[in-house]
Amino acid sequence: MSQPARGELLYEGKAKQVYATDDPSLVWIHYKDDATAFNGLKKASIAGKGEVNCRISTKLLELTAAGGVPTALVRALGPRDQLCLKVDIIPVEVVVRNRLAGSLARRLGQEEGLVLPRPVVEHFYKSDALNDPQINEDVAMAMGWARSWELAAMREYALTVNALLLEFWGGLNIDLVDFKLEFGRAGHTVLLADEITPDGSRLWERGTGRHLDKDVFRRDLGDLSLVYQELVTKVFADTPAA
Ligand code: TMP
Ligand code: ASP
Repeated sequence: MSQPARGELLYEGKAKQVYATDDPSLVWIHYKDDATAFNGLKKASIAGKGEVNCRISTKLLELTAAGGVPTALVRALGPRDQLCLKVDIIPVEVVVRNRLAGSLARRLGQEEGLVLPRPVVEHFYKSDALNDPQINEDVAMAMGWARSWELAAMREYALTVNALLLEFWGGLNIDLVDFKLEFGRAGHTVLLADEITPDGSRLWERGTGRHLDKDVFRRDLGDLSLVYQELVTKVFADTPAA
């Protein structure tokens, strides 16, 4: 497969850059080492983070595609670069939770850790200016951010991704506590877009409850760079060296 030519920078987010390519239907995504938390209030550069996130995201997006959820990923271009279909991001973030943690635990005034009897799906409006407020599907429809059938597809895809990821992380003795997904439109279809990474997931080591995700940075629990190296080693333990 020929390497596409990287064009102009179209968009720079907190953790990734999106570039045009010589094909208008494709974008080149570059994962940065930058880490932010609390809507950018806390910032640092974490050595190797871009590569860890990109490698893990590529693997998990391939796994979800194989499990029947269409994704925007076309293929990896290198250890911290991906070729993806160009999509219009739907400004509705979908969070799936298997255990009580983070903002839901805070909202309910509860300790983290309770195992939920069934997965909980939540929606947030993707807006840095408003700090991603929680919304529901009615608000998303009323504001014209997503149509009813799109929200239904997003929910079904998110729950399928959850089942696939529970099995994947469980196989590594890691509990998938929660994660966030973003979706995009390409033509008349809804695709899983953005990333599936330890930046956007809570991953607790089974038995110890040790955090193997970006909460290490958010909560000053240790050296995120070392934790991410440990995680990537577990994820690719069965992969022969190239
Ligand atoms: P929350 O408990 O803070 O609502 O987060 C739920 C999940 O979503 C957690 O795995 C982290 C992820 N997340 C993001 O990826 N980006 C964000 O901006 C926030 C607030 C959470
Ligand atoms: N991604 C968001 C930020 O950069 C929030 C977070 O992940 O905690 O601020």
